[in-house]
Amino acid sequence: MSLRILMFLAVMSAVTGSPSSTVAPEATSQNQTVNPTGAAVDGGVSPDSTNEIQESDLNEPQEDEMETGVLNPDHYPARRAARVVQHYLNTRYGSPYKVFHLDTVHSATAENVTDSGRKYQVEFSVKDMISKKSVKSSAEVFFPKLDEATEKQLQELWYQQQRLQQQHTPVVTISCQEPLAIDTKAQEEAWYQQNKVNQSLVSQNLPDSHGHIEPGMEPLWHLGIVASSFIMLNQSTENTLYNMAQVANVTQLETENEQLKFEYDILLHDMVSQEIPRWRMQFTWSPTEGVRVLQMQHLPKCHNCKLPETN
Ligand SMILES: *[C@@H]1O[C@H](CO)[C@@H](O)[C@H](O)[C@H]1NC(C)=O
Ligand SMILES: *[C@@H]1O[C@H](CO)[C@@H](O)[C@H](O)[C@H]1NC(C)=O
Ligand SMILES: *[C@@H]1O[C@H](CO)[C@@H](O)[C@H](O)[C@H]1NC(C)=O
Ligand SMILES: *[C@@H]1O[C@H](CO)[C@@H](O)[C@H](O)[C@H]1NC(C)=O
Ligand SMILES: *[C@@H]1O[C@H](CO)[C@@H](O)[C@H](O)[C@H]1NC(C)=O
Repeated sequence: MSLRILMFLAVMSAVTGSPSSTVAPEATSQNQTVNPTGAAVDGGVSPDSTNEIQESDLNEPQEDEMETGVLNPDHYPARRAARVVQHYLNTRYGSPYKVFHLDTVHSATAENVTDSGRKYQVEFSVKDMISKKSVKSSAEVFFPKLDEATEKQLQELWYQQQRLQQQHTPVVTISCQEPLAIDTKAQEEAWYQQNKVNQSLVSQNLPDSHGHIEPGMEPLWHLGIVASSFIMLNQSTENTLYNMAQVANVTQLETENEQLKFEYDILLHDMVSQEIPRWRMQFTWSPTEGVRVLQMQHLPKCHNCKLPETN
């Protein structure tokens, strides 16, 4: 079965709710619109308007997903490649006070690389959710080709909400005109010191079901987005479009060295399959070292997980 057909099945199951779909009823009853191609498009899941899912991310999902040459920058094939770069940037430069989000795709091309995969060239702008500063950048994203056995495995595992092994992780090469120099050192250092002295941070449901985040908890939510970018980068293929939906539970663990240590339970949202994968991860963070992932684990699917409302 080709990826295109898988893609079609995924879209169909999003629309009709296939028997094996695990999306909670709430997830489909939230504000949805139907685009001209008949596919359900989510209204967005984040409390922050800069992080909202743009309808253009899923525009015309039935067009040729594996097209080559110049792509429409507003359409899903171009945006999914640029989204992978967003996750990459967060893994490299993100912090509790710096979180990148894809803003605009200016141009994109795609080409087949003989027998090894597909390469996208994208020009885009990313915005820091906190300072609202925008940076223009270009990147190459290479999606390794899946061999037949893997494709078959993917097809079988698709309905078990499984994802690919990490050898299929897309490869990102980026070049930015301006450095991503948004100076957040002072806030990071203050937050670090405060939570190093008092290692008691704990919270659930960021944002809550109404899309609200308690004042003071934003850095924990931002750190959750940055950490989950490691998962989203690792798990992205040409058939996914991930967004971090909610921090279900976060606990600060006892610091063993100079790093703050956390355990997060995270709900992601795959806009293509409408799945809500649940992950647990342990990682450390400090202003100098950034996020270091210690463990990440795909949790069993959750039948009553629901996405927070959009404001
Ligand atoms: C759903 O979204 C549409 C378009 O964005 C908006 O006009 C409408 O008010 C929304 N409905 C609800 C119930 O939020
Ligand atoms: C590129 O590869 C995809 C599958 O990976 C295939 O469907 C498509 O026809 C190829 N396009 C060209 C121009 O070779
Ligand atoms: C430590 O944090 C807890 C919970 O955030 C708070 O109740 C407590 O007052 C803090 N203690 C100190 C010494 O700051
Ligand atoms: C949150 O995670 C901590 C650490 O794993 C755990 O002890 C706690 O029971 C969890 N809370 C909820 C509400 O799941
Ligand atoms: C996927 O995540 C693991 C765990 O953090 C990491 O060690 C690995 O390098 C990642 N794979 C890639 C290709 O980034």
